[in-house]
Amino acid sequence: MEYNTDFLLNRRTIRKYTPEDVGDDLLNDLIKAGCRASTTGNMQVYSIIVTRDESIKRELSPLHFNQKMITEAPVILTFCADFNRFNKWCVLNNAIPGYDNFLSFITAAIDAILVAQTICVAAESKGLGICYLGTTTYMAHKIIELLKLPKGVIPITTVSLGWPAEQPDQPDRLTLEAVVHKEIYSDYSDSDIERIYSEKERREDSRQFIKENNKTTLAQVFTDVRYKKEDNVYFSKTLLQVLKDQGFMNQ
Ligand SMILES: Cc1cc2nc3c(=O)[nH]c(=O)nc-3n(C[C@H](O)[C@H](O)[C@H](O)COP(=O)(O)O)c2cc1C
Repeated sequence: MEYNTDFLLNRRTIRKYTPEDVGDDLLNDLIKAGCRASTTGNMQVYSIIVTRDESIKRELSPLHFNQKMITEAPVILTFCADFNRFNKWCVLNNAIPGYDNFLSFITAAIDAILVAQTICVAAESKGLGICYLGTTTYMAHKIIELLKLPKGVIPITTVSLGWPAEQPDQPDRLTLEAVVHKEIYSDYSDSDIERIYSEKERREDSRQFIKENNKTTLAQVFTDVRYKKEDNVYFSKTLLQVLKDQGFMNQ
């Protein structure tokens, strides 16, 4: 059988949605397909919280730094690393779970990401639009409170889902040569780096971005504005505390 992957090559993140709903049947089909994703040891150590309720969305919104997709998309999906359910099954079956450690967190986080991305691909194949929200890991402690996530559960990522009301230009990507290594890693020389990033740096949107942010290089927009060290350190500490509180740092 031949599969058409053009929709993957043509995709872009969608941040504006029509008011049209995503019906329960369609959503269930997407989630069912998503749950066919590979999962460590077939344990399915993830949970998916579906948010449609306007009042919960309003409460979620500031936890995602008021990104408008939260209140404007018909469906919000919060993907969680979840050992709570599996641990309970173990305990009920005379088995001692050994999943209160960092490795188990990573295992469950990988599972959560795989199911999320598979749902996103399924959604995009049906013409729906999605946007990931990275704010989830910044504000995990608050999301845990709002969504009443028990010990053993940590939100990993959030996806807004709806029918596209925009068709933005497709963002650039690095060339394959930039990201693929043959057999062993071949480290980048300065001139490799200059070549690999030159197209990105030359783009009109990048130049605009540099200007708007009063910077002299595109890299500075990342280091000084978008993903600053002080923010990374702050949110990293917060997230490590969440891992402790949710019972993943006992060993
Ligand atoms: C883990 C993750 C977190 C993201 N967080 C946000 C976000 O908080 N807000 C947003 O508007 N886009 C977010 N995005 C979308 C990216 O900005 C987008 O994928 C990237 O700019 C490339 O654009 P494209 O998906 O249209 O190709 C996120 C993407 C990923 C994978």
